Amino acid sequence: MKAAIVYYSQSGNTSYVAEKVAAILTADRIPLVPVKAYPDYGFKKFFWGGKSALMGDKPALEPYAFDPESYDLVIFGAPVWAGTFAPPLRTFMETHRSALQGKRMAAFFCCSGGPGKVLEKFTAFLADDRLEQALILIDPKDKPSVENEEKIKTFCSALH
Ligand SMILES: Cc1cc2nc3c(=O)[nH]c(=O)nc-3n(C[C@H](O)[C@H](O)[C@H](O)COP(=O)(O)O)c2cc1C
Repeated sequence: MKAAIVYYSQSGNTSYVAEKVAAILTADRIPLVPVKAYPDYGFKKFFWGGKSALMGDKPALEPYAFDPESYDLVIFGAPVWAGTFAPPLRTFMETHRSALQGKRMAAFFCCSGGPGKVLEKFTAFLADDRLEQALILIDPKDKPSVENEEKIKTFCSALH
């Protein structure tokens, strides 16, 4: 089984999980980087990121290497922004929609406590209910806990 972890992280929590999952599953990490970075401090951070998420933006991404043929399993990761998943993941999903058909899929999301309906929204956008596993964690890098580490391990075990 070969897995790819495709994720966006603005402040490190999602990438923290991506690194853990990659280590456990010996998976490749594919970080998504918007061409135009979202503001990462102050009022602008929440205003522009939240607006972009609510508008369903698909921001242009820096080039990345993703060969769908190489992977059986694709694991998606993103922060929750305004109750939905951060927009860079939307760009990726839209670009690779047909190539993702037939792949095993799972997803994890990081939030600060109010995930809203992120899972429902992600599944609806996928237009596919084949998510094998889903995980929601609260700021796992900023608020480390044994519980979070256990959840990450359980998520990975279920995907072996
Ligand atoms: C624009 C913006 C909107 C956010 N909206 C939510 C939200 O609706 N619910 C929530 O629980 N956390 C929200 N957060 C907090 C992040 O989801 C959370 O801190 C997450 O762990 C950040 O992941 P990252 O470090 O990988 O960027 C928001 C953060 C930003 C920047």
